[in-house]
Amino acid sequence: HGQTDFQLPLAGKTVTISAGGTREPLDPVRFLGNRSSGKQGVALAVAARNAGATVRLLAAHMEVPPPPGVEVVNVETALQLREAALAAAADSDVVIMSAAVADFRPAEISDTKIKKRDDTADPVITLVRNPDILQELVERRNQGVTGLAADGQLIVGFAAETGDQHGDVRAYAEAKLQRKGCDLLVVNHVGSDKVFGKDTNSVVILARSGSEPQEASGTKADVSAAIISRIGFELNQVSP
Ligand code: CTP
Ligand code: CA
Repeated sequence: HGQTDFQLPLAGKTVTISAGGTREPLDPVRFLGNRSSGKQGVALAVAARNAGATVRLLAAHMEVPPPPGVEVVNVETALQLREAALAAAADSDVVIMSAAVADFRPAEISDTKIKKRDDTADPVITLVRNPDILQELVERRNQGVTGLAADGQLIVGFAAETGDQHGDVRAYAEAKLQRKGCDLLVVNHVGSDKVFGKDTNSVVILARSGSEPQEASGTKADVSAAIISRIGFELNQVSP
């Protein structure tokens, strides 16, 4: 203990990481879901734990088991993830939102299984917006609602972008970073054959401070180690 702990970059720090993808129920047996395996979030949890942090994993339907040595809170929906994230953030030095949060949820959840019927029109599902958890975490941090100093908490977002006719991946990512106000944004370039469920990854880490974008690639473990090491660096800038 003691001596080696002092050399670990995140010793004494509490890191909350959301992982997986939320599910929004339609009825007792159906949901709207997200294609996210949770592998990146789990790799981040391992890297943060190995860097000496106390790790809380907010797990939304991960396809992989949580790693040993981390506290796990299981959640189902975006609203549940919001509750868990706001609670965990209250005393976290770092919050990493790597979960795929459903942007919308069905406006109504049927208590009973929705049946197909021949005598009525096909059903239409009405969706409503889910709250933006990352943005809310940033607002609370900035208002000093967490128990930590206003600038003492580091908040990290993830973005998966494809780019389209209106803008490329980097342009969308820069706009998202400004909109969300998080300190770091980890950007994945996704296509139908990229990233989801895969073991390798290539990302760019954008910083709101305006410092140079940093690229990281390799296995999800490699990428996670790079992200955690960057987080350790950023934290030491704030409170050495
Ligand atoms: N996020 C969140 N709450 C939401 C939606 C997203 O906290 N309701 C977080 C994600 O966990 C991620 C970041 O915001 O860290 C970016 O998610 P993304 O889906 O890329 O951003 P959106 O603002 O939802 O934009 P888009 O329209 O591109 O989906
Ligand atoms: Ca989204």
